[in-house]
Amino acid sequence: MAARKLRMTFAPTARHATLDPPRLPTYPLSFTQSVPHHPSSAPMPTPPLPHDEVIPILDFGSQTAQLIARRIREAGAFSLLVHPSITSAELRAMKPRGIILSGGPSSVYEPGAPTCDPAIFDLGVPVLGICYGMQLAAHHLGAKVAPGRAREFGRANIHITDRHGLFHAIPERTTVWMSHGDQVTNLESSGFIPLATTPDCPFAAVRHASKPFWGVQFHPEVTHTPHGVDILRNFLYDICRCKGTWKMADYAATAAARVREQVGDARVICGLSGGVDSAVVAALLHKAIGNQLTCVFVDTGLLRKNERELVETTFRDHFSIDLRVVDAERDFLADLRGITEPQEKRRRIGHRFIDVFQAAAKDLKGAKFLAQGTLYPDVIESGHGHAGQSAGIKLHHNVGGLPEKLGFELVEPLRDLFKDEVRALGQVLGLPDQIIWRHPFPGPGLGIRVIGEVTKPKLDILRDCDEILLEEIVAKNLYRSTSQVFAVLLPVQSVGVMGDGRTYESCIAIRAVESQDFMTADWARLPYDVLATISNRIINEVRGVNRVVYDISSKPPATIEWE
Ligand code: XMP
Repeated sequence: MAARKLRMTFAPTARHATLDPPRLPTYPLSFTQSVPHHPSSAPMPTPPLPHDEVIPILDFGSQTAQLIARRIREAGAFSLLVHPSITSAELRAMKPRGIILSGGPSSVYEPGAPTCDPAIFDLGVPVLGICYGMQLAAHHLGAKVAPGRAREFGRANIHITDRHGLFHAIPERTTVWMSHGDQVTNLESSGFIPLATTPDCPFAAVRHASKPFWGVQFHPEVTHTPHGVDILRNFLYDICRCKGTWKMADYAATAAARVREQVGDARVICGLSGGVDSAVVAALLHKAIGNQLTCVFVDTGLLRKNERELVETTFRDHFSIDLRVVDAERDFLADLRGITEPQEKRRRIGHRFIDVFQAAAKDLKGAKFLAQGTLYPDVIESGHGHAGQSAGIKLHHNVGGLPEKLGFELVEPLRDLFKDEVRALGQVLGLPDQIIWRHPFPGPGLGIRVIGEVTKPKLDILRDCDEILLEEIVAKNLYRSTSQVFAVLLPVQSVGVMGDGRTYESCIAIRAVESQDFMTADWARLPYDVLATISNRIINEVRGVNRVVYDISSKPPATIEWE
């Protein structure tokens, strides 16, 4: 799929940088970057972590490591993924309340399997090992790990034999989600106390008799473990003595302080796209450095109706941000003249975008930094959050990202956050709902939604249809329950009849999808009466359109966009 469409995200959300994450000069540790392995065991300088209740997670390559971090944050402590090679001294410098060892695909007895500094177990800080993390701890603390008698994948019935601490107030019998082939065998003789069993796993959960270690063979972070969140909360509150004070408002203040520390009194450029990520970056930077920030918004002529006005009103009028709007419609449309092939369209739009942005940046004297809305999943999915341990599920190909040769240092204040946390931060920063809850909009804009050659009259038709569509979706309260809704102008003329006359006009396709991650998607079952209203309004109100069709393809095999 990646090869079929050349992904292109413009500056404001450019993800190319995540392929080669820059080291931020001011911070010894960027939260989601792999922690550098220091040759000496000297503690690292204390990094400016955004909270005093920090739970680092050593990521051994689990697909659900991010989910653990998220559950911890939801429970009110700040969590971050770190590379397993972090030393105990580096961990101590972070002043963690607790430490979590994630699961992972390896077997601890295999040569080259990821490991951790065994001195972690002597820090006096509670450690929770999950699946591989439990096996690794057992291995370090003298127990034997070997292929299990039976592998356990999926739901398992668990019997909790010690309902204190980790299992406080958890039912004696419940279900958990297992995913392991290895088992730990001689735990008791190496100082572990069993806390729970399943029919196939006598040590489904353990604690150590003399060290602050707890282990679960199952995955409390997934929703298939119904009391998983309660178990993690017990770890945080009963064992680590957290108070649960982590909240987004603190984050905004600390992140702003980090930005100030990074950029000093230098000027920062932020490309605005109108999307939520770049908008939150801009609002945060404005809070942090005020008029040292200049935002650049490129009007490509491929934008939705009133997009430019929305960005101008929000950022120039409401936030009083120094906003430069570059009107480059003519150049973009000239580049697209006669071009019908989607990849070529993307390529041309991307190149032009870089040229325009580069020219705008040259005019801004003294700008040393470029701010981008790189998010936590971008960092992790590109295999950089934990040194590629999870082998990168997908790489973002963003040829439209701004080239490093622009010579800026990057400021990426959202690198620690998930998308919904970015939205929460946007709310804290006072951004309007209209921006916070926006559906994603592709970098090449309507250029890939006018199928075939892109011209201004076609774009104007599409803009009008799209506006009606979104008005109706919002009016019927369907915007938040759908993931992306848009109109596509097809290169098809069809016969119609209006009044007594024959028409021969354009056809609009409506696309509405529901999706978790946009890698797969299903078409939204919009109510017929809503579709009927949309169709009627478009045909009656937009000149040049006499037919509306509804796209009922899922992804795969189709994709969300038509081009
Ligand atoms: P597809 O069409 O691949 O889209 O199923 C998945 C998601 O990605 C968006 N998309 C793009 N975003 N540059 C972007 O920034 C692009 O070239 C691009 N192509 C698709 C699409 O809108 C959907 O959210």
